[in-house]
Amino acid sequence: MYGPPPVRRPVIDRARQSARLRALDLRDTVSRRRDRLTPPRRLDFVDHSDFAATGDEFLAHFIELGGLQPSERVLDVGCGIGGRMARPLAGYLSSDGAYAGFDVNRDGIAWCRRRYRRHSNFSFGVADLFNARYNPHGALRADEFRFPYDDASFDFVVATSVFTHLLEADATHYVAECARVLAPGGRLFATFFLLDGSSRGLIEEGKAGLAFLDIHERVAILDEDLPEEAVAYDDEWVF
Ligand SMILES: C[S@@+](CC[C@H](N)C(=O)[O-])C[C@H]1O[C@@H](n2cnc3c(N)ncnc32)[C@H](O)[C@@H]1O
Repeated sequence: MYGPPPVRRPVIDRARQSARLRALDLRDTVSRRRDRLTPPRRLDFVDHSDFAATGDEFLAHFIELGGLQPSERVLDVGCGIGGRMARPLAGYLSSDGAYAGFDVNRDGIAWCRRRYRRHSNFSFGVADLFNARYNPHGALRADEFRFPYDDASFDFVVATSVFTHLLEADATHYVAECARVLAPGGRLFATFFLLDGSSRGLIEEGKAGLAFLDIHERVAILDEDLPEEAVAYDDEWVF
């Protein structure tokens, strides 16, 4: 029997989602809700929560918890599409400060380079590293990647929602690279899914938002078919 191949459900879902996001983008443009450093929703592959509000919230954490100063040099590891953290930092860092971000997503970095052209102390790099979730055709291994920056060239390294998508070998190597590029007195601000008594208890009771597998291991994943979808670390691994 001949006929068109069946359309797979995820393809339909993606098309619907894309149409919905394009409609929201149009609304944002017409109503001027989006400023020039906020990417269109259809490009925001990370999630569709409030891009600007999340960035602003994190900037407050960088200042209050990490003591970030306007004159410091910031590296944003896995800066993502549109640089969610770059946007608030563009308003906070002085001309003595600097921002560098890199990511495996070529389109995201291209967008950032265009939008931040006028910010001479902001730069964005792309690295074609394999990540099953974010760059499945990446040619290079993250656990061998030397960040393209000199030793001790930053005061503050940001990695928000990045270690949450790195398996152990990559994560171990990235911690070492962050340490290498940080100057004495530098700080790393990173987020993790933590496995501790409380989170393990909630997972076992079926009350956790993310039901990680094998939670008594040092490192746990959410999905065996796509390990980098979400990765959790024992709190002793992190601290
Ligand atoms: C959940 S997103 C977070 C993006 C951004 N940090 C934020 O807070 O909005 C995870 C990001 O990590 C990037 N990524 C994945 N593997 C990476 C790697 N090995 N090196 C650098 N970035 C990576 C992805 O492309 C994606 O942009």
